Parts: sequence; C-alpha cells; structure tokens
Amino acid sequence: MIRIDVITAFPEYFRGPFGESMIRQAQRRVGLEINLWDLRDFTHDAHRTVDDTPYGGGAGMVMKPEPFFEALEYLFGQGLPREQTKIIYPSPQGKVFTNRVAQKLAQEKSLVFLCGHYKGIDQRVIDYWVDEEISIGDYVLTGGELATVVIVDAVIRWIPGVVGDIESVKSDSFEGDLLDAPYYTRPEIYRGLKVPDVLRSGNHQAIERWRLEKRIEKTRAVRPDLYKKFVEKNKL
Ligand code: ADE
Repeated sequence: MIRIDVITAFPEYFRGPFGESMIRQAQRRVGLEINLWDLRDFTHDAHRTVDDTPYGGGAGMVMKPEPFFEALEYLFGQGLPREQTKIIYPSPQGKVFTNRVAQKLAQEKSLVFLCGHYKGIDQRVIDYWVDEEISIGDYVLTGGELATVVIVDAVIRWIPGVVGDIESVKSDSFEGDLLDAPYYTRPEIYRGLKVPDVLRSGNHQAIERWRLEKRIEKTRAVRPDLYKKFVEKNKL
C-alpha cells in the first residue's frame, strides 16, 4: 500500500487518530501517504449541503450523490489510477471486516474510503463506484469515519515495515483461528500476584506449549464460533 484517500464531510475527525501512533509511524517508516478530502469542497451551494431527504419518505437524511461523484472524478482526474485503487464504503450493510480482509487490503496499491452519515449514501454512488462495502461489526455508528479509522489501523499493520517485527503481527489474535495468549512483564510478583512459573523457566518448548493451551482455553471460553473452526481445521 502506498496511498490512502479519505472522502469525508468531517475531515477534522481524523486529525487525532491519523496524527498519532501506528498510523503516523506508517507514514514515516514506509512512506504511506494519507490524504483527507473535504466532501463539502465538492458542493456548489452557499450552505455546502451534503445531504437531503430520502425518496420514498421515512426518517433521516441521505447523502447526496453529486459531491461524492465530483470528489472521485477529481481524485482520478489528478492521476490516481482507478484500476489500481479499491474504493471502500464502510457501512453496516457490508461484509464483515476481519484480520484476513485487512491483510488482503494491505496488498492493494491505493485505497479510497467514502464516509457516510445519517441513513447512508445515495445507492448510485455505491453501484457506480464502490468495490467493497465493509462493516466493522453488527452495530450502527453515527458515521463511517470511526469505521474508516478502525479499518485503516488494522490494514496498515500488515504493510511490511510498519510494525517492527512482522512475526508479532502474525502471532496476534485470530491467526490459526485462535485468540492470543496472556502476557506478563516485570515485576515478577505484584501485590501478591505472580507471573506463571513456566514463563520464567527458560524452557521455550514448554512456554510455546503453555501459550497454545492458553489460546485454546480462552477461545473455547469466549468464542465458540472460532473454536469450532479451529477444531475442524485441525481435525481434533
Ligand atoms: N457505519 C456505521 N456503522 C458502521 C459499521 N458497523 N461498520 C462500518 N461502517 C459503519
């Protein structure tokens, strides 16, 4: 991935999350370019209107198609190659986002995110432009901005060089359909609470075995859906 563009009516929303931590590191370490585009800059009325009432009636507003069309035409007119870009629309109607999807998206050259609000975006924008509609979970957020931040954060971790040790990324939760093991650091005893002996044993085989057991135990307890997958895949 070399470039991420976000089209949003609330660009200020991203200043915090995109200015900090991992995302900032990705910009520094691997030259990831992130551009924010203010949807209202692609309106033509004095009020910079981005929404309107829905055809067919009902509560809530719908985001107008014209600003999105014009913003995307501007972007691709500026030289961003359409055929090397995935346009993503975060929405509760999308396919559910997983680490696997994140890993796949990290292999794209360029991602464009369209942030919706209210009842969502005029369907013509989705039909004409969107390559993937993605949901970050079965709940409704007030807008696509937070979902975009979540997706971008999870995706850039998979770009080689962003996280110092790619092995660390690979051993995180969900790899091999298991949640991650518990971790401890110094001090060895804190308020009478002890670090498990095995972790201090220096026996790497025993430690690996213990970690796998803990991952299986935890997955079985809180994520029966993942546990079932794990059992089936490993023919246990
Ligand atoms: N926008 C509002 N809710 C959302 C969700 N759950 N996932 C992605 N985008 C959203």
